[in-house]
Amino acid sequence: MVMVIHPDIKKVLITKSETQKKVAELAKQISRDYQSRELVLVSILKGGVIFLADLSRKLTIDHSFDMVGAMSYGSSTTSSGNVIITKDIDIEVAGKDVLLIEDIYDTGRTLRAVRDLIMLHSPRQVDVCVLLYKEKKNRAVEIPIKYIGFRIPDVFVVGYGLDYNEKYRNLEYIGVLKESVYS
Ligand code: IMP
Ligand code: MG
Repeated sequence: MVMVIHPDIKKVLITKSETQKKVAELAKQISRDYQSRELVLVSILKGGVIFLADLSRKLTIDHSFDMVGAMSYGSSTTSSGNVIITKDIDIEVAGKDVLLIEDIYDTGRTLRAVRDLIMLHSPRQVDVCVLLYKEKKNRAVEIPIKYIGFRIPDVFVVGYGLDYNEKYRNLEYIGVLKESVYS
């Protein structure tokens, strides 16, 4: 089958089928690890919701999910440094196992802010699952990541939830943007 690539994409890093295969693998592992637990997936709006939707449907154990609103990026391709929480969770997680579902581990600031927020709700534990793990020499905030989909170089990527100026979240693959798009 011929894959149609968006004209703004320079290079596809991870294809749709690679993503699907990885999500299924992660779901299998998570279903095993949380078998006898009360699992709540908490995704971070908006980038994490595509991953959440796919992962949740592949889990073979009962679980609930919710979302947190967090913003760190403006319209640029580098992190703004401060994280603003725009929405808290609605469901009760006290005593339960929370797994944060995020699209990407970049500077780590968003994950730290969201983890700190979830801690206020007294869960039994909070762990992190990211689809993409950016390899960085100096990360602002190091936090433990329990599940990693793919390790990628420190480049700006879009697709599968990740955006540039709110665009490209819908792409089924993960790709690198052409420089001409943001210069
Ligand atoms: P952090 O707080 O720097 O770790 O950034 C986390 C958030 O920044 C993610 O939830 C993404 O929304 C966004 N982000 C980080 N890297 C990228 C990227 O390469 N492409 C698109 N968004 C990104
Ligand atoms: Mg995000």
